[in-house]
Amino acid sequence: MGRQQGNGSKPARLLALLATSAIATPIISPASWDVGSLFLSKTAPNNTSSRCKVYPGDQNWPSDEAWANLNKLVDNRLLDRPEPLASVCYNGPLYDAEECVKVTAHWNESYSHFDNAVEMMSPVAQGMTCLPPNIFDSSNCTRGGFPMYVINATKPEHVQMGVNFARNTGVRLVVKNTGHDFLGKSGGKDALSIWTRYFKDIEYIEEYVDAKTGYSGPAFKAGVGVQAFEIYKAAHEKGHSVVGGEGETVGIFGGYIQGGGHSPLTSLYGTGADQVLSMEVVTADGDYVTANSTSNTELFWAMRGGGGSTFGIATSVTVKAHPDFPTTASRFSFTSEKVGNETFWAAIRDYVDYFIPNADAGTYAYWTLIPNVWTGIFSFGMSPFFAPNKTLEETQALLQPWLTRLEELGINVNPNITHFNSYYEAWRSSFPLETVGKINATTASRMFPRCNFETKEKRDELFQNLRQSSENNRVQVHFNIKAVDPANSDNAVNPAWRENILFAQQAVRWNPNGTAAETLKARQEFQRGDMQRWRDISPGAGSYLAEADRLEPNFGQAFWGDKYPRLLEIKAKLDPHDVFFATTSVGSERWKVESVDGLPNENGKLCRVEN
Ligand SMILES: Cc1cc2nc3c(=O)[nH]c(=O)nc-3n(C[C@H](O)[C@H](O)[C@H](O)COP(=O)(O)OP(=O)(O)OC[C@H]3O[C@@H](n4cnc5c(N)ncnc54)[C@H](O)[C@@H]3O)c2cc1C
Ligand SMILES: *[C@@H]1O[C@H](CO)[C@@H](O)[C@H](O)[C@H]1NC(C)=O
Ligand SMILES: *[C@@H]1O[C@H](CO)[C@@H](O)[C@H](O)[C@H]1NC(C)=O
Ligand SMILES: *[C@@H]1O[C@H](CO)[C@@H](O)[C@H](O)[C@H]1NC(C)=O
Ligand SMILES: *[C@@H]1O[C@H](CO)[C@@H](O)[C@H](O)[C@H]1NC(C)=O
Ligand SMILES: *[C@@H]1O[C@H](CO)[C@@H](O)[C@H](O)[C@H]1NC(C)=O
Ligand SMILES: *[C@@H]1O[C@H](CO)[C@@H](O)[C@H](O)[C@H]1NC(C)=O
Ligand SMILES: *[C@@H]1O[C@H](CO)[C@@H](O)[C@H](O)[C@H]1NC(C)=O
Ligand SMILES: *[C@@H]1O[C@H](CO)[C@@H](O)[C@H](O)[C@H]1NC(C)=O
Ligand SMILES: *[C@@H]1O[C@H](CO)[C@@H](O)[C@H](O)[C@H]1NC(C)=O
Ligand SMILES: *[C@@H]1O[C@H](CO)[C@@H](O)[C@H](O)[C@H]1NC(C)=O
Ligand SMILES: *[C@@H]1O[C@H](CO)[C@@H](O)[C@H](O)[C@H]1NC(C)=O
Repeated sequence: MGRQQGNGSKPARLLALLATSAIATPIISPASWDVGSLFLSKTAPNNTSSRCKVYPGDQNWPSDEAWANLNKLVDNRLLDRPEPLASVCYNGPLYDAEECVKVTAHWNESYSHFDNAVEMMSPVAQGMTCLPPNIFDSSNCTRGGFPMYVINATKPEHVQMGVNFARNTGVRLVVKNTGHDFLGKSGGKDALSIWTRYFKDIEYIEEYVDAKTGYSGPAFKAGVGVQAFEIYKAAHEKGHSVVGGEGETVGIFGGYIQGGGHSPLTSLYGTGADQVLSMEVVTADGDYVTANSTSNTELFWAMRGGGGSTFGIATSVTVKAHPDFPTTASRFSFTSEKVGNETFWAAIRDYVDYFIPNADAGTYAYWTLIPNVWTGIFSFGMSPFFAPNKTLEETQALLQPWLTRLEELGINVNPNITHFNSYYEAWRSSFPLETVGKINATTASRMFPRCNFETKEKRDELFQNLRQSSENNRVQVHFNIKAVDPANSDNAVNPAWRENILFAQQAVRWNPNGTAAETLKARQEFQRGDMQRWRDISPGAGSYLAEADRLEPNFGQAFWGDKYPRLLEIKAKLDPHDVFFATTSVGSERWKVESVDGLPNENGKLCRVEN
């Protein structure tokens, strides 16, 4: 508990030492280490003025020997050009028709992607260069926005080696955990990737005491590769719950928690980042440190909400544990088919009246609005209305006013309201696995604050804007939650979360067979049109960095509000050479992926923005 973890083992200390010395001075490394001069000195360009990161074909691209040295330093865990999933579908040595059928059948399940060293769940962000041909025919399977080398890390030392190598060679560094990020921030053409998926330890701490913040209570220390389904099960076994996402495979301790993270428990406890007590982090200097309320406090502040792949690479995170309480969940749906458009929309308008009271009651509603362009039918789905720590009766009482209105409108929804003995059971039965890997859609988001719901006029205005998006054929996914932070943690979480009542997402879709120019036009028009309408009625509010669009304008304000200037300062201080980068991350405006097709994706070199 609060145990000093930063000392590392002998190799870690040595490497950290080597790394903090000036690279310009040749370093003679201990023979037992076999670091090799190529790795740390001769090829190290330290050419901070070069326009782009270092790529194959560049004079400074590390030699095969340098890569081989890196491989030795990471216990032979360096993967050289690991194959994308769909490579079995294309001509070449890996072609396997049977495997291809399997890959195709499971393509839209997250489970297929996170076991692969390079796959990310947004092929759009990868550049669409290797998909199952029956889903999207890319003619050939090329690496596109996938990294070239991957360290399959299991120890902090592996991460340190990777960071040092990238910093000293100028090769682009990326971090992949599970690949869930909506913007595909775990990819990067010809990069060196550090894959954190196999940091899987979970330790239960019965009594964690943080004298500075006054927290004293149970906690879990988890490796960053631990996923939602794993930590929820472990917590349940100890009679606890933890704040994490609804999606069962999300990497709760990687990008999720560093980006803020919303949860079925957020209306009670705040965001995922608000739960963090301590993190173990490899910094841009290659040091392995503990960041908590008393050590490395700026790093600690920034890594709770400031976004992944920006300030350091976490290897473990310690979070507060909460009681595992009974939970009631409800699912129902209706469409415009029988009742017609006006009645359907009257029902949705009525629902908007209950957003404030429902969020204030500590509930979480995950609901969808789906248009069908062929039939002209709109569908509403409540999937689910989730009421942690509430009885069946309490939940019914919350839902009843709207259900009564629905009845009056002639909409019979017959809700399935089920009470569960634990959060864990409720979560398991209420959130089916979502589909991933979409080839022609991008989601953007907005956090609508409380003031959008405080008067009838405001609620009318908001409703009209949701309806307009449906009529413009946008798929909408909504979370009626609030994210106040009862412990009043001081961190980098987007201040817009604190005002949030409706976290709203809408998606633009395009013809996958269209040209790049057509796709770009559709995406830009979506931002200028439907998204701008949402921004216009919520001035100063924000968007959520892990469920957002790469084309979100003024992303610094949108993702961090008035905390952005401080985050930029911390970035400049902790990572002055931009070893870490992810599109739309803090400080990323200095760089741009020059994609081969001009679309916002990872299939191109990462270069400085000229000014
Ligand atoms: C099906 C699905 C359901 C989702 N449900 C929710 C939800 O309920 N609530 C919610 O808030 N979000 C949800 N999300 C969004 C999710 O939070 C983001 O996708 C998040 O980025 C996932 O983090 P990851 O580590 O699993 O993914 P990755 O895509 O691997 O990583 C995301 C980002 O974090 C960086 N990163 C990862 N690990 C580390 C590390 N150890 N150190 C430093 N940087 C790191 C990566 O470089 C990347 O930039 C969902 C996404 C999907 C696809
Ligand atoms: C923070 O971490 C350091 C180093 O491990 C430790 O000495 C200190 O006690 C921790 N602080 C708290 C408040 O737990
Ligand atoms: C790289 O070069 C810059 C500018 O000359 C210098 O400030 C910096 O210390 C060098 N970094 C290393 C690691 O040598
Ligand atoms: C450093 O970068 C500049 C600009 O790209 C380039 O002209 C120069 O050759 C590079 N120097 C070295 C030693 O790589
Ligand atoms: C996911 O893929 C399966 C198998 O190809 C298919 O039946 C299903 O309709 C897909 N789901 C979605 C939402 O695309
Ligand atoms: C696919 O590969 C073939 C043969 O290598 C090449 O001629 C063709 O241009 C490639 N097509 C694309 C779309 O890259
Ligand atoms: C990565 O490492 C884990 C843990 O050692 C191992 O199970 C897995 O097979 C490795 N994956 C690859 C692609 O090498
Ligand atoms: C409902 O609205 C949609 C689009 O706004 C339209 O296509 C459809 O025809 C309308 N349905 C009816 C029954 O009027
Ligand atoms: C859960 O409900 C109990 C009983 O109503 C209450 O005492 C407790 O404060 C609630 N917990 C939370 C986190 O709201
Ligand atoms: C209601 O939901 C519960 C839990 O998800 C499920 O077990 C049950 O079968 C559902 N009942 C009906 C009638 O659909
Ligand atoms: C998106 O792609 C899917 C699958 O190819 C297709 O069914 C759908 O019509 C496409 N959407 C648009 C707007 O073209
Ligand atoms: C895209 O083209 C493929 C192959 O020609 C075709 O099967 C598919 O239906 C097309 N998709 C759309 C949405 O037009």
